[in-house]
Amino acid sequence: MNSAELIEKIKILRNQKNAIIMAHYYQTPDIQDIADFIGDSLALAQQAAKTSADIIVLCGVHFMGETAKIICPDKKVLVPDINAGCSLADSCKADEFREFVKQHPDHTVISYVNTSAEVKALTDIVVTSTNAKKIVDMLPQDEKIIFGPDRNLGNYINSVTGRNMLLWNGACHVHEQFSIKDLLLLKEKYPDAIVLAHPECKSVLLKLADVVGSTQALLNYAVKYPEKKYIVATESGILHEMKKRCPETFFVPVPPEVTEGGVGCMCNECKYMRMNTMQKLYECLLNESNEIIVDEKIAREAIKPIKRMLEMSV
Ligand code: 13P
Ligand code: SF4
Repeated sequence: MNSAELIEKIKILRNQKNAIIMAHYYQTPDIQDIADFIGDSLALAQQAAKTSADIIVLCGVHFMGETAKIICPDKKVLVPDINAGCSLADSCKADEFREFVKQHPDHTVISYVNTSAEVKALTDIVVTSTNAKKIVDMLPQDEKIIFGPDRNLGNYINSVTGRNMLLWNGACHVHEQFSIKDLLLLKEKYPDAIVLAHPECKSVLLKLADVVGSTQALLNYAVKYPEKKYIVATESGILHEMKKRCPETFFVPVPPEVTEGGVGCMCNECKYMRMNTMQKLYECLLNESNEIIVDEKIAREAIKPIKRMLEMSV
């Protein structure tokens, strides 16, 4: 099947089955283009909460499918590649996190959405990078807080809120791997460019950034100031939507353009996100396969901190 036929078949199945295709900004351009809805982690959760579709095809990674399933237990939630995991979610195993929480019983537990359903079930409030600061700011200043699993986002939120949250030592392999050397070279080459960085990046990189924000916040900034140039330190999938919304604007991702030898490593692409393909999207919709199942008992606990997040981020 050529790609035009594949697109046509996906569209027919989507209508026949009353399905919605939702995609994260880190999906490949073809998947972003066919999606009914694209967004960051928060927007995907919010959209799942209000869709009237019978089937949600969540083009993203496993924890995103789980979150949608927990929010919509009566809907069928499919992920094109069920093995699309997340190094950050994997850096926080539920058993270890449970022990950590037990050791600090007087702490409120805040977890980034990039966690398994089991970890969410141990959590008081889920956050995303879009709403983490806002939600932490809403808690009393003297509240003791555990923040997991991303140490870089946690450090960043501590620095902008003046808190001293206890951090879990996890990280995302994509956002931790940006080359500072390449970023400095890019800054030298494009001195008037604005550096956009995701708070999952290391603090040494964030110190070099002009704008730190979630995928959505970085996109919004570029859309607001399309006359500027941008150096982008987050997963490079976002460049597709940035270029679509700002076709005249100059964007350069960190680091591939200037890596020694000119070849460039593709460490700014999340290998898990990229496991989803149009063919897999078609097959999972056709066969209604790769369904996300969440244990009912875990889902009953995990929905509570997700609901708190949705209520606190309106
Ligand atoms: P956001 O979608 O909240 O920006 O998070 C980035 C990310 O790494 C998602 O996996
Ligand atoms: Fe997980 Fe990082 Fe990939 Fe996001 S970019 S899904 S945090 S591994």
